[in-house]
Amino acid sequence: MGEKILAIETSCDETSAAVVDGGTRILSNIISSQIDVHRKFGGVVPEVASRKHLELINHVILEALQEAGLGFKDLDAVAVTYGPGLVGALLVGLSAGKACAYAAGIPLIGVNHLEGHIYANLLAEPDLTFPLLCLVVSGGHTDLVYISGHGNYRVAGRTRDDAAGEAFDKVARTVGLGYPGGPLIEKKAREGNSEAIEFPRAYLEEGSLDFSFSGLKSAVINYLHRARQRGETVNIADLSASFQKAVVDVLVDKTLAAAHKYQVSTIMLAGGVAANGFLRTELENGAGQEGWRLVYPPPVLCTDNAAMIGCAAHYKYIEGKFAPLTLNAVPNLKLGEQCF
Ligand code: KG4
Ligand code: ZN
Repeated sequence: MGEKILAIETSCDETSAAVVDGGTRILSNIISSQIDVHRKFGGVVPEVASRKHLELINHVILEALQEAGLGFKDLDAVAVTYGPGLVGALLVGLSAGKACAYAAGIPLIGVNHLEGHIYANLLAEPDLTFPLLCLVVSGGHTDLVYISGHGNYRVAGRTRDDAAGEAFDKVARTVGLGYPGGPLIEKKAREGNSEAIEFPRAYLEEGSLDFSFSGLKSAVINYLHRARQRGETVNIADLSASFQKAVVDVLVDKTLAAAHKYQVSTIMLAGGVAANGFLRTELENGAGQEGWRLVYPPPVLCTDNAAMIGCAAHYKYIEGKFAPLTLNAVPNLKLGEQCF
């Protein structure tokens, strides 16, 4: 048994609280999704998200403690996401976290949301050894991160425009599949032919590990508009499969190229798009051919959740890296950056 951390995550549209014991034992992980609230707007509305977090946060925290069978007096620290994310959404979790830490007289730990996504892999595989390479693919980020030790990150490549998840969401909205787009496109793609439509793949300059998905997104939208103007019906399953393959091809090729460059033999997947089964399979095949290992968390730990924040906080706890109660939200917080 290790230290018990109450973790809080409210950076976007999930209100989540968890209790994590010793970094990897999840005692509870309550996730209250606001997807149904935002669906009618076709995406997350920041103001609505903040208000919803306010309504939910106390209940979610109490439920996390109850499920863990613990009270505030049993906790050793409170961890909270302080960026990156929507400022109004972050502030709700941050205020709640500070109040809990102050009232219980225990330390506060500030966690970077992306770091949480990366550490979700340690919840699934606690024995991972460095160096590691992680492809972080979410609604806001597409980063290739080289990790030489706890908290030591080097961003080897990142998207220059849209994040992969954002492209999934925008394409799904344009074809009328709904929100959030990733799981809906993945489902539709299972019935389609991924070779049916030739969409562009942006590899950028020779040797670049950066990504670009806005050209692909525009190509899909233009394809749809042209077909509609000609009065043709579009096979949405084929379109979904072809789009998904165009995204995944580039993600896989660049991840394998980064593993070669940094001589890393364990690759991790993180973030909401890491829940995508086609990406997992393709990357697993590619890594397997090189004799490398691919690790990824179960889907529920890929999308936003507080257990991943509790896991990342564990390594800060053992190093005594605590945050002051003046900790503020940092909407553009970078990986490896400490803003307090
Ligand atoms: O990590 P996350 O929950 O929130 C952010 O930090 O952004 O990621 C959400 C993103 C959304 O864009 C969603 O469409 C995408 O992850 N996503 C998926 C899948 N599940 C979620 N994308 C592709 N395939 C999926 N199965
Ligand atoms: Zn996230």
